[in-house]
Amino acid sequence: MERTRWYKNAVFYQIWPRSFKDGNGDGMGDLYGVLEKLDYIKSLGADGIWFSPLYPSPGVDCGYDISDYMDIAEEYGGMEAFCKVLDEAHARGMKVIMDLVVNHTSDAHPWFQMSRQRIEPYTDYYIWRPAGKNGKEPNNWDSMFEGKAWAWDEVRQEYYLHLFAVRQPDLNMDNPLVREEVKKILKFWLDLGVDGFREDVITFISKKEGLPDDHLMPASKGIRFYNHGPHIHEYLQEFRRDVFSKYDCMTLAEAPLVSPKRALEYIAWDTPDLPEGSDIDMMIQFQCMCADCLFTDFMPMPFSLRRMKKAYSSWQTKLYGKAWNMLYLENHDHPRIISRYGSEAFRKESGKMLAAMYLFQQGTPFIYQGQEIGMTNWYPTEVSQYEDIQTLNQHADWPEAKRLQLYHRASRDSARTPVQWSAERYAGFSEQEPWFHVNENYKEINVVEEEADPDSILQFYRKAIRLRKKLKVVADGTFREYDRASSKLYVYERKNKDQRLLVVCSFAEKEVCWKAPAWYDLKKGRLLLSNYGGMRLDKQGALLRPYETAVLLFQAD
Ligand code: NOJ
Repeated sequence: MERTRWYKNAVFYQIWPRSFKDGNGDGMGDLYGVLEKLDYIKSLGADGIWFSPLYPSPGVDCGYDISDYMDIAEEYGGMEAFCKVLDEAHARGMKVIMDLVVNHTSDAHPWFQMSRQRIEPYTDYYIWRPAGKNGKEPNNWDSMFEGKAWAWDEVRQEYYLHLFAVRQPDLNMDNPLVREEVKKILKFWLDLGVDGFREDVITFISKKEGLPDDHLMPASKGIRFYNHGPHIHEYLQEFRRDVFSKYDCMTLAEAPLVSPKRALEYIAWDTPDLPEGSDIDMMIQFQCMCADCLFTDFMPMPFSLRRMKKAYSSWQTKLYGKAWNMLYLENHDHPRIISRYGSEAFRKESGKMLAAMYLFQQGTPFIYQGQEIGMTNWYPTEVSQYEDIQTLNQHADWPEAKRLQLYHRASRDSARTPVQWSAERYAGFSEQEPWFHVNENYKEINVVEEEADPDSILQFYRKAIRLRKKLKVVADGTFREYDRASSKLYVYERKNKDQRLLVVCSFAEKEVCWKAPAWYDLKKGRLLLSNYGGMRLDKQGALLRPYETAVLLFQAD
C-alpha cells in the first residue's frame, strides 16, 4: 500500500480520556463525552485525534498499564462507544490514532498471570531472572517510577523486570511470540479502521543481551542498555513489513533522550539501511521539554529561552528535507506550558505567543486538551491530593512543604485535571464529583469564556491553524533563526520560492526592541497574526510588549 503521508497536512488533538469530558455522569471522562465534543475539536481545525489509552486497565498508571489490548474499557463506554466515535470522527474528516503500549503490560494481563505460573507458551513473555547474589536483584537498573527495576514474584520465585511501576512488567520483545502478539494487536485496530499509533516508549523495547550492570549513570541506571537497544530497528522493521506496510497509516514513536541525529536513524525517508523504509514516521522528542529542567521535570532549573530555542530550531534544521517533525508544547506527561515557558500573570499574551511559536514550524502539530484555552498548573495544598504514581514516588522522604513545592512545579497531574468547559459546577466537566480535582481557576479559564471572547487564546489557536493550513511556506519552507543569542526573543523565518514568513516571539515581561537585519523592511510585511492587535514599529525596529508575537508575510525576493 502506498504511504501517502497524509499526516504531513494534519493537526492533531490529544485526548487524555479520564479528564476530557464525562458523558454518562459518573465523574470520569468517557467516549460519550468525546462524542459530544467532536464538533468542538473539529472547530479548532484539528484533522486527527490521538487517544491516550482507552483499554481495560487496573489504572495504576492511568491506563498505561493495560490488561486487554483488544477491547475498550467499560468505564469509557466499551467497544460500541468507541466504534461510534471512530465513525463520527471519520465522518468529520478526522483521523483517529491509538496509543500502543507494548514495552510493558499490566500485571493483571492474562499473559503475565500465565507467565508467572510458567504456563506455555507464556513462560518467556516477560523478562524473568533468578535472584542475584544473596537474593538480590539481578542487576542494578532503576525503574522510572518505583525504585529498582526488579520485583520479586512469589508465585514464580523469580524476579521480573519493570522499567516503570512494579505493576507494569516489561514484555520480552526478543521472544518472537510476543512480537506476533503485537502484530495481532496492530492488525486488530487497523482493520477496525483506526489510522495509526502513538507508540509508548517504543525505543525501550530491545534490551541489551545479558542485562549488564550500569556503572556509569548516576540515575536512571540501565537506560543506556535498553534505550535504542540492539534489535530495535529489526523489530520496528518487522512491524513495518508485516503490518504497517499494508495500511496507509501513521506511526509516531515516543523517544526519550533522542537527538535529531539518532532520530534520523528511525524516521529519515531515504534510509538505505532499512529495507522496509523508515521504521516509523515521526518521533516525540523530549529536548523541547527540557528548557527548565535537566532530563526530567523533577530536576527543575531556571527556564532558559536559549535552551528552548536550540531544541526547537535544531529539530527544524536537522530534519529539513530528510524527515518530518512532530511539534508539541504539552501532553499528559508534563505540567502546563504557560506555567513553564510563559507566564501566568500574562496568561493570555503568553498563551498565544507560545501557540504561534510552534504552530508555524515545519511538522505535524499536536494540541493537548486544555492547552487551546490556556489552562495553567494546579496548586493543591496537600501532597495527598496528587494521584500520579510518578509524582508520588519523587522524594517521598522529603518534608511535605518541600515535596509540594517540587510537585507544583513538576507534576504531570497539573495537566490531568478535568478540562474546564464552563464556569458551572465541576467546570462543566461532569454533573457528579469528578474522579480528580478541578483547578480552582475554572471560573475564569473555561471554554465558554474563550468562545465568547473574540480575542481569546482559543480563537487565536483557530486563526493560527487556519493560517498554517493556507500558507504553503509553513509546510515546505526552509527554517532560519535570527538573534540566536537573545535570551528574550525567538525570531525565525520560513522561506520558499514565493514567500517569506517571519515569526517574532517575545518571552520577556518587559518591553524589548527587536532590531531586524538592515535588509528586512518590516513595514513591507503583511501582519497576519498578532496578540496585541498590531505591531509597533519605529526606526529601531519592532517594539515588543510583554510576550508579544507577530507573524508577518513578505514576498520572497
Ligand atoms: C510514557 C507515557 O506517556 C506515560 O504517561 C507513561 O506513564 C509511561 N510512558 C509508561 O507507560
